Amino acid sequence: MKVTVFGSGYVGLVTGVCLAEVGNDVLCVDVDQHKIDNLVQGIIPIYEPGLDELVKNNQQAGRLRFSTDIKQAVEHGLLQFIAVGTPPDEDGSADLSYVLAVAKSIAENMQEYRVIVNKSTVPVGTADKVAAQIAKILTERGLDIPFDIVSNPEFLKEGSAIVDFMKPDRIIVGTHNEQTASILRELYAPFNRKTDRVVVMDIRSAELTKYAANAMLATKISFMNELSNLAERLGADIEQVRQGIGTDTRIGFNFIYAGCGYGGSCFPKDVKALERTAHEIGYHAELLTAVERVNDRQKQVLFTKINAHFSANLKGKRFALWGLAFKPNTDDMRAAPSRVLIDALTVAGAFVQAFDPEAMKEAKRIYPDNENLILCSSPESTLENADALVIVTEWKNFWSPNFELIKNKLSSPVIFDGRNLYDPAQMQSLGFSYYAIGRGLNQHTV
Ligand SMILES: NC(=O)c1ccc[n+]([C@@H]2O[C@H](COP(=O)([O-])OP(=O)(O)OC[C@H]3O[C@@H](n4cnc5c(N)ncnc54)[C@H](O)[C@@H]3O)[C@@H](O)[C@H]2O)c1
Repeated sequence: MKVTVFGSGYVGLVTGVCLAEVGNDVLCVDVDQHKIDNLVQGIIPIYEPGLDELVKNNQQAGRLRFSTDIKQAVEHGLLQFIAVGTPPDEDGSADLSYVLAVAKSIAENMQEYRVIVNKSTVPVGTADKVAAQIAKILTERGLDIPFDIVSNPEFLKEGSAIVDFMKPDRIIVGTHNEQTASILRELYAPFNRKTDRVVVMDIRSAELTKYAANAMLATKISFMNELSNLAERLGADIEQVRQGIGTDTRIGFNFIYAGCGYGGSCFPKDVKALERTAHEIGYHAELLTAVERVNDRQKQVLFTKINAHFSANLKGKRFALWGLAFKPNTDDMRAAPSRVLIDALTVAGAFVQAFDPEAMKEAKRIYPDNENLILCSSPESTLENADALVIVTEWKNFWSPNFELIKNKLSSPVIFDGRNLYDPAQMQSLGFSYYAIGRGLNQHTV
């Protein structure tokens, strides 16, 4: 099939390359000329395992092309995917300006029937807005060209985006029209060979399904973080509690780790946007408000522990920080807990010596001139003259470090572990002051 994808970010690029990999003729479009110039040369703007090779192979095979030419883009695909950003507006609602800009471009250039497939995460009712915008422009152009809108939210996870797209848990297709449902079924057939994973539903339900999934996952995390704060005050260990409840198949082990808060481009903004949608229709979504508040507070937990340990005297202190990305296997630092900690420590006059396996370039971009932030080339080099080690992201290569080396390098043997990577008893026997999340008393609770 001929497919156009508007937006060459995480979702657009992965969608484009995976659809090309199974044989479709894909044109990826972006307004960012620099990004497209790089992609044409095979330079990938993001870190995502496996993406690099797939892009190059499909470019060479002639199934994947990149362009900024909107006219060509609208001419190319029967299917016109929208995969542009929907960042939070001032009030937390989703900013639809990029989505509507794409709708406008499609309407201004459309010559024949098109299926507009929205992959961006958008509030309920957006498909109606996109349809109205396209109809209005077509009327202004004096044309009566048929088109259909499909809501096809994306559930890929950064860090395993290719695998998630290739082997999806489900493919949500929101449409009122059986003909478009069958076009989408045909497109997704190669990803669907074992069992049929396409779930066809009405458009509004499809739009809400995406928010429901993210809000549920964020709720699980905030719930465990809330309990971790209780565990600290009660002398219980949240890790043992996690094992204890995860075995219940109704609860399960996924997404029940306590930590220093969730980040990324999706959970924070999607929980806020759903809360805002509720507010706009006069409903107070109390649970969503709480989920967000608990998370905001959790992002402060590490700083609170550090500040208490050093008796609120952080000026001139040095902290080795492991992990900048909001989670492992990505370079994405959007809404990352590391940023809240870096800001708090550096405002307090401390120095942060940070390392991340993939997010160093992104950190340089975000902090071009924070003199108190030193970006280091290895986990070991962050330890030079440092007063404590702080772990923020659970990258695999932080799981079994050389504790002797850490102890020898640090000016005092203190570890603040925002991801509960180590065994408190082992840390104690090695002579560390070890602060984790929700693991018993004497943890400098928030
Ligand atoms: N990142 C994820 O893990 C993920 C997962 C599921 C869903 N989503 C949703 O998918 C959407 C896209 O997210 P993302 O992370 O890929 O965003 P992104 O910021 O990485 O990429 C968006 C791209 O769209 C481009 N763009 C903006 N306006 C454009 C236009 N008019 N025409 C063409 N390109 C344009 C931007 O230049 C940018 O390259 C969002 O709604 C997000 O919530 C993201």
